[in-house]
Amino acid sequence: MITLPGLIDIHVHLRTPGQEEKEDFLTGTSAALAGGFATVLDMPNNKVPIITQELLQQKMELARKNTVCDIGFYFGSLGDNLEEFPKVASQVFGIKLYLNVTTGNFLIDEEKLRAIYEAWPESQPILLHCEGKTLPMALKIIKSTNKKTHICHVSSKEELSQIMTAKKEGLPLTCGVTPHHLFLTDIDGQKLGPYGRMKPFLKTQADQDFLWSNLDSIDLIESDHAPHTKAEKESENPPFGVPGLETTLPLLLTAVSEDKLTIDDIKRLLFDNPKRIFNIPTDENTYIEVDDTKPYTLNPIPFYTKCKWSPFEGKKVVGKVKTVYLRGEKVFENGQILAEKGSGRIISPVV
Ligand code: NCD
Ligand code: ZN
Ligand code: ZN
Repeated sequence: MITLPGLIDIHVHLRTPGQEEKEDFLTGTSAALAGGFATVLDMPNNKVPIITQELLQQKMELARKNTVCDIGFYFGSLGDNLEEFPKVASQVFGIKLYLNVTTGNFLIDEEKLRAIYEAWPESQPILLHCEGKTLPMALKIIKSTNKKTHICHVSSKEELSQIMTAKKEGLPLTCGVTPHHLFLTDIDGQKLGPYGRMKPFLKTQADQDFLWSNLDSIDLIESDHAPHTKAEKESENPPFGVPGLETTLPLLLTAVSEDKLTIDDIKRLLFDNPKRIFNIPTDENTYIEVDDTKPYTLNPIPFYTKCKWSPFEGKKVVGKVKTVYLRGEKVFENGQILAEKGSGRIISPVV
């Protein structure tokens, strides 16, 4: 049995309000606890994007009564809400911007990106979904504005190389990778069909190898938990995204058992760095106990996420979360949520 601090996932989509058929705050935060996460940060690409203080307050109100782990939020922008920034900046963990097509279609162009960079207050990072051609464009703006930026879900050798170079030049950059880009390739993607469809797409073995051999240049692991229903995935135009909260830690502990990384790496990538980069409040009595010895097969049916599917279904792993303690109280044990609905906190950045 190993003990770890309650893990932090800085990138989840819990879909409320507006798309509760995919996930809600109770199922999403239950999935977090079951996966060993005590804190999640939720993205703003809801059905109606979270681009005003009022929408943010409404979302927080919904979360208040329905969460079982701690949750914080990001703000969104399509470039026309700059006056809202000072009103929300102290309550959110950053602002999330989409420079490529993905779920929600909240795209912004270079001109808007620059205006947002100039307007966003310094304290919390700007997070970017930028892959492929939009990365050099973003790096140019980061260089000229010097605003702290986190690049989400880096998936290719090309992207990580550019980020490593930019970091060496002193740009205020951090980056994250997802478990699916660490454990699946385009070959798996072909077999998985719509269940292996996410943005960024799964890359080649060479790309994946490059991520693993440069783990030291990666600041954190983010699940990008992006639930969609089976019916949506089976439809003619399946949406992008896969769930990840309940599979991330078992996959990583399995990799530890194969000497691909260490328990200290897990602590650095899923606790220390997320906490430092995003100023996340934590408690020393929030921790998890994990059985890292007994092998088992990943089966999504008993998962708490509304997705009863996973691209990792059938994979043999070690690493099962046994108990989760939140501020000293046992909130999860042997597959059961013990926390009362609403007992998670709505958090804001520590200043
Ligand atoms: C995410 C979603 O479904 O909200 N989808 C995805 O494929 N990753 C959006 C995103 O993170 O790009
Ligand atoms: Zn994204
Ligand atoms: Zn995402």
